Amino acid sequence: MDHFLYRDGTLHAEDVPLPEIAAAVGTPVYVYSAATLTRHYHLFTEALSPLPHLVCFAVKSNGNLAVLKLLGDLGAGMDVVSEGEYRRARAAGIPGDRIVFSGVGKTRDEMRTALQGGIRQFNVESEPELLALSEVATSLGTTAPITLRVNPDVDAKTHEKIATGRKEDKFGIPIARAREIYAQAAALPGLQIVGIDVHIGSQLTDLGPFEAAYTKVADLTRALRADGHRIDRLDLGGGLGIPYTRSNELPPLPLDYGAMVRRTVGDLGCEIEIEPGRLISGNAGILLASVIYLKQGEGRDFLILDAAMNDLIRPAMYGAWHDIVPVQDGGAPTHVYDVVGPVCESGDTFARGRPLPPLSEGALVAFRSAGAYGAVMASEYNARPLVPEVLVQGDHFAVIRPRPSFDDMLARDTIPQWL
Ligand code: LLP
Repeated sequence: MDHFLYRDGTLHAEDVPLPEIAAAVGTPVYVYSAATLTRHYHLFTEALSPLPHLVCFAVKSNGNLAVLKLLGDLGAGMDVVSEGEYRRARAAGIPGDRIVFSGVGKTRDEMRTALQGGIRQFNVESEPELLALSEVATSLGTTAPITLRVNPDVDAKTHEKIATGRKEDKFGIPIARAREIYAQAAALPGLQIVGIDVHIGSQLTDLGPFEAAYTKVADLTRALRADGHRIDRLDLGGGLGIPYTRSNELPPLPLDYGAMVRRTVGDLGCEIEIEPGRLISGNAGILLASVIYLKQGEGRDFLILDAAMNDLIRPAMYGAWHDIVPVQDGGAPTHVYDVVGPVCESGDTFARGRPLPPLSEGALVAFRSAGAYGAVMASEYNARPLVPEVLVQGDHFAVIRPRPSFDDMLARDTIPQWL
């Protein structure tokens, strides 16, 4: 359930009618619901209780400082994959000891920043990274808490571009070599092993692959303990999928996920960390856009919006489906539209042959399930201003990232004197 519902024929974000936001901020604009973010965070904390746990929100899914602060105030930790995300989490008030640092290519500078600023753990993904982190920690006279991210060779059965747990994927260390690499880690100065990490992919709609991976992690926990290592934490990654369409079969609920976690790793006495992004932020956001033109093509009608692939790239990049709904409830879907943006490539197509109620110029539409991997993946392609973001709570809203002016955009470039 989210908090984007029709009231008297008008789509609202919580208690705010979306036309009010469009009038105040303009379109396109992302709109997030604080109540939905809160609700989805609590689904996970409830699902994992009574195990000791920390829900580390994947900042990559939505890194707005206001979103991070809201979740941080509820007690969330953060999963970051770059210095930029680390700095975002800290700027939003998240203490270092609630931040885990993931990512396959952490630089020495990034390690230094996190070690100096405070970090819960690094999820190390390779032997060269172990050596680098050992060097950096030693040079700072400190110790880096680490897990090793293992690649369990499990097919997450998700989109090719977001599967991360098969042996051909670039992520983690092969689980078959884990004992050898843990021994290597234990022998290096400046490192302290605290647990194991795994993340097999995103938008998983079946618990089977998770269960297969976590069972391997449970076996590995026992083996590593037998080797003399302290395994106190298991970071189980993110990846639980969300419903992108009302008609689809529902992905498993966090409650079922939690039961599976308890079944597979619950008896090991470990603190459980998870790194969900999409399930917390995805259905907590919509992208609000306006119809610029209705154009009759050869045998098809194009609905040309003021939002484009630079604002929401998921359809162009992954062929992803987002429900598109009129903000004023227009009744039955009697028309079929190709929904497109103004960017100059055919890839800038959100949907082909989408049944919708009749829409006219100036009408507002909302892309549902756009709160994750929406604004964070936006760009200024075609010199279109970066899409702004708004947070709604109850009957009030605030702009949490303004649309830059054209002057702001131009002022970022410099022309060398010698030109
Ligand atoms: N932890 C790690 C190490 C990850 O790589 C990811 C996502 C997550 C957690 C969070 O996964 P989630 O719970 O959000 O599924 N841009 C793509 C998704 C890329 C996911 C990358 N990693 C999309 O729009 O579908």
